Amino acid sequence: MELYDAIYNRRITRDFQDKTVPEEVLERIINAGLQAPTHDHLRNWEFVILQDKKDKEAALQFIKKGVEPQLEILKQILVEGTAQQKMYAIAMPRQYSMLMNSSHIILPFFKSNSGVMNPTSVSSLNPLSSIWCVIENIFLAATAEGLACSMRIPVGEEGLNVAKVVGAPQDYLLPCYIGLGYPAEGSPRVEQVEYNAKQKMHFGKW
Ligand SMILES: Cc1cc2nc3c(=O)[nH]c(=O)nc-3n(C[C@H](O)[C@H](O)[C@H](O)COP(=O)(O)O)c2cc1C
Repeated sequence: MELYDAIYNRRITRDFQDKTVPEEVLERIINAGLQAPTHDHLRNWEFVILQDKKDKEAALQFIKKGVEPQLEILKQILVEGTAQQKMYAIAMPRQYSMLMNSSHIILPFFKSNSGVMNPTSVSSLNPLSSIWCVIENIFLAATAEGLACSMRIPVGEEGLNVAKVVGAPQDYLLPCYIGLGYPAEGSPRVEQVEYNAKQKMHFGKW
């Protein structure tokens, strides 16, 4: 697939087919992630991959509780809401299933330092910025393979708890969970606010 096709076809997907991604494809996707730019030249990134149901359940146990009470409110929003509200209404009830039902959960860890959690400037966040370059490469490579990804940002203590469960060292942080798999047909398409470059470019001065 051409790069521009992958960029334009990439979509966060929250419903997957019950089909396993072959390991060599998974490896190609992780290798694409490893080509991302890195702030310190060290590529201090590690990937915990979960395929076994029990391993997935252990890592996802911190998600389930937070979502269930919101479901009734979200149904209403699906009918009446703005594009952003509708996105939440589709996404929230799927936070657990979109990872549990993926072929593989990828947990991308980055080596942190004291600046990341107490930033004094944008550059303090470089380790976090770098891992997001990795994550986008993974999304695009998955798209190029005919696959798709779900993604959730851990809230509150969730990331630290997941890191503990999978045995990550204390100085490695989890920016998000990624679910990788074959997208289900007919999964709801999330309405987007569309822009083109002309609306966003400011030549010379904002
Ligand atoms: C920083 C960031 C955080 C996000 N957090 C979540 C999340 O916690 N759960 C989720 O289902 N989707 C999450 N998303 C995915 C967005 O909902 C999605 O990217 C957006 O609706 C645009 O859709 P698209 O990616 O298909 O173009 C996040 C995306 C970004 C970039």
